Amino acid sequence: MALSSISLSNFRCFDSLSLELTAGSNFFYGKNGSGKTTILEAIYLVSSGRSFKSSNIESAIMLGSNSFHIKAFDKESGFIVEAYKEKNKSIQLKLNNKKITISDIAKSFPATIIDNKTFSLTEASPAFRRKIIDRAIFISDDSFSSNWFGYYRSLKQRNKLLKERDLGSIDPWTEKLATIGDELTIKRKIFFDQTKDRFDLIVQKLELKLEKDFFNSLVAKYDQGWDDSMSLLEALNDSKDADIRRKVTTQGPHKADIKIYIKDVDAKEILSRGEQKLLSIIWLCSQHEVLRSAYNISPTLLIDDVKSELDSNTFNTFISLLKLIENQIIFSNIEDQINSKIEADLINIKKFHVEQLD
Ligand SMILES: Nc1ncnc2c1ncn2[C@@H]1O[C@H](COP(=O)(O)OP(=O)(O)OP(=O)(O)O)[C@@H](O)[C@H]1O
Ligand SMILES: [Mg+2]
Repeated sequence: MALSSISLSNFRCFDSLSLELTAGSNFFYGKNGSGKTTILEAIYLVSSGRSFKSSNIESAIMLGSNSFHIKAFDKESGFIVEAYKEKNKSIQLKLNNKKITISDIAKSFPATIIDNKTFSLTEASPAFRRKIIDRAIFISDDSFSSNWFGYYRSLKQRNKLLKERDLGSIDPWTEKLATIGDELTIKRKIFFDQTKDRFDLIVQKLELKLEKDFFNSLVAKYDQGWDDSMSLLEALNDSKDADIRRKVTTQGPHKADIKIYIKDVDAKEILSRGEQKLLSIIWLCSQHEVLRSAYNISPTLLIDDVKSELDSNTFNTFISLLKLIENQIIFSNIEDQINSKIEADLINIKKFHVEQLD
């Protein structure tokens, strides 16, 4: 399910652009304003219905035009996805010529983005880390979304009762929350364990090329959001008085997190920015490799401005990583960092000089 081609019309700086991509690594380079982020944004848009650059999708319509159209094709599955946006109208998404919703589009061409705002998983909020794991489970497990929405609806209801001090009807909601919360947690734990195993394997394979061996002492732990010596129901009952006082549910899967430690210290306290970025890239590649090997889904990883924060040693590690990854990766940089030696080494790489594409 890798994207094999994409065409854009009236999307930001491109009035018309068509690209043939490879299922392996795709590298876009070019000067400021040449359109690198725009290409990644267009790919992300057909994979999610959203832009990572701007919450106002209308701003992506080429100035002076009335609409943009993006069309992407996967030759393996024969899928065609389209995003069409007209001024003052909501975005339209289509799969094989039929209208689909945002949640369906995310399943047909899944993609994850790392850009300069989201390059550090360790610095990000727990909510961001939950989103990263939940999105992966959402595309791999059809029952996850009803589970997820069921949990958050029940949580909202319980919090409303706590806020309004309507305590007589709280217990049934506590039980419901505990039941759905347990199911949610089991799914998250399974996916986390699979990712962690894959992460350890990748780090082990990269070991020789890593100058810093701290990656070998990284430990990722899934914090389920409550004391794991208790069941969720016990924890909710245990914290009932505190919840009543604070008028909110203080424990549960909505507080879950992925914690990364180096010798018992939170990794964000130790890692440099470049190291944090490399860690995020390896973690997301691990998630994508799990999706491919265990669920037969092939997501695309998008990395904008790959070289920012990375020195040449860390960048070389990134190149070594590409050799271990079977999923599609699309990354950009201002300068052409892929010399002919790297190109010969990475057989499945395609280079695009963005200034010459238009
Ligand atoms: N709606 C629009 N209509 C026309 N041009 C636009 C629109 N939105 C953005 N642009 C222009 O598109 C160009 C490409 O922007 P983009 O962010 O893709 O560049 P980039 O190659 O990623 O640059 P950088 O190296 O600075 O990150 C910029 O010159 C920008 O001003
Ligand atoms: Mg850019």
